[in-house]
Amino acid sequence: MVGYRKYTIFIFCFVFLVVIAGGIVRTTQSGMGCPDWPKCFGSWIPPLTADDLPADFEKYLKKQDIDHSFNAFHTWIEYINRLLGALLGLLVLIHLVWTVRKRKVLGNVFLYHSIAMLIVVLFTAWLGKVVVDENLAVVKISLHMITALVLAFIPLMIVNLLDRNESVSGQVVPRGIYIPYLLLFILLLIQLLLGIGVRQEVDVISKASEYLNRETWLSTVGPRFIVHRSFSWIILITSIYLLIKHKGYYFRSVNKMILGLVVILMIFGIMLNYLDFPAFVQPLHLLFSLILIAMVFGVLHKVFVSSFSMKS
Ligand code: HEM
Repeated sequence: MVGYRKYTIFIFCFVFLVVIAGGIVRTTQSGMGCPDWPKCFGSWIPPLTADDLPADFEKYLKKQDIDHSFNAFHTWIEYINRLLGALLGLLVLIHLVWTVRKRKVLGNVFLYHSIAMLIVVLFTAWLGKVVVDENLAVVKISLHMITALVLAFIPLMIVNLLDRNESVSGQVVPRGIYIPYLLLFILLLIQLLLGIGVRQEVDVISKASEYLNRETWLSTVGPRFIVHRSFSWIILITSIYLLIKHKGYYFRSVNKMILGLVVILMIFGIMLNYLDFPAFVQPLHLLFSLILIAMVFGVLHKVFVSSFSMKS
């Protein structure tokens, strides 16, 4: 089952590749680079130059919220994002076929997880279409991001289930260890919602200013930003507590990574705040926050799975 495990981890990593591609689409304002879906300017392979545009190209350009002109860079950034999404769907489908074929060895629980992964990937793709249809509606973008996060959770659960018979580095999982992780997970979900709120405001403000004067965007965002910024201190303190509390334990290395990610996120946040909102930091802030949340979820799930398999 080594190959199956490695393939599942590969899917987990691929989800983040699609997330970063989506983040780049947003920071480069390429979201409407392909105004239709699933095709792009009515074709499966988008135009490389204005000469390649179809005769009725204006009908597509009218759908764009800004710009209303053809920009090959935006079109191809959006198209590559879609290709990566489609590839992810294919990878998940192969995973399901693999699970069905190994069903007798693996058991039904893996089949259910693999099916769930396919449903979530299809739902995420459908939301992507709605986002384009509704000219990048802000709430739909946020929902699209949350489903991508859920998609990252499932391969982690599969890997934890595959490893369930190996005790956690031969050590007994202390009772109640899940409590601080559960707390951190809840805090991170709150922070995620606060961050999404800030992002939605930034989207409205940046669009209104035609994506110019980046240095003014954050100062126009309401109190949500201050709450989001301050809330990261609570997350930092909780992560430090985890590291101090579980000395010499298997989770120590994981706790170090969690703390490292929190610090990196705070540095990114500070850069957004004080360095005039650098475009390259936006997708990185998103990527690292999703990796952090997925990681804490993975540890939490592992603790549950390990305690359950020890009892049974
Ligand atoms: C544990 C720490 C943090 C986490 C988990 C976190 C998480 C997030 C998330 C999930 C978003 C939404 C991103 C998106 O939808 O594209 C976001 C946005 C944002 N966060 Fe944080 N954040 C953290 C710390 C900070 C700090 C310390 C600051 C500022 C000093 C900050 C500033 C911002 C800003 C300005 C946005 C909007 C970014 C954009 O529009 O692209 N964050 N954050």
